[in-house]
Amino acid sequence: MRRLDQLLANLGYCSRREARAWVADGRVTVQGAVADDFGAKADPADVRVDGEPLDHPGGLLLLLHKPVGLVCSHDGREGPDIYSLLPERWRRRNPPVTSIGRLDKDTSGLLLLTDLSPLVHRLTSPKHKVPKVYRATLDRDPAPGLAELFASGTLRLDQEDTPCAPATLKLLAPREAELTLTEGRYHQVRRMFAATGSTVLTLHRARFGDLELGDLPAGQWRELPPDRFGA
Ligand code: URA
Repeated sequence: MRRLDQLLANLGYCSRREARAWVADGRVTVQGAVADDFGAKADPADVRVDGEPLDHPGGLLLLLHKPVGLVCSHDGREGPDIYSLLPERWRRRNPPVTSIGRLDKDTSGLLLLTDLSPLVHRLTSPKHKVPKVYRATLDRDPAPGLAELFASGTLRLDQEDTPCAPATLKLLAPREAELTLTEGRYHQVRRMFAATGSTVLTLHRARFGDLELGDLPAGQWRELPPDRFGA
């Protein structure tokens, strides 16, 4: 049960002050009856605005094909962001829609977005070990023995106390590799290759757990059930 003015503001419809005006104007109903108290508590499933059910009152979970050139940060000083791809109302939700982990500006591929904070914590926790599959093109053929090194769990990155967890490297073609990680350290793929003498030229995340992009074009998203990973 949530207060009507708070509910509409948190779902990005309008400010709390505007929500009070919407109630006064008779635009909001609860179980079919026009609401007359903006402070009354209601089950979001019973609320309508202008006759329409509320927009995803139980939370959003989106699978985005992130294009290169956009950042995952909400800080506008870092440049154009992925949230600009979403409808205005979703961008005003509180808790905010945020990415589950990040892809850097020059990386494309599968990124989950949600306003369900427990899900963010669960899926980014190192404990959870969700496998993430990346495709990288490199500036040179990887050094011999690289797959064994990545798999060994001994590779240490600059400024890091603990070695990277074992990762699986497959060579797909000359200078083209697929790397599966179960962690998500800062710029991890680029830094793992850099630590072994090669530069990643392009990077794309193809899978997150058992999710794939399919034919979803870059810049587009599709909805997943919010309980996709369990309630
Ligand atoms: N590793 C990187 O280097 N960049 C990403 O965006 C994700 C993993």
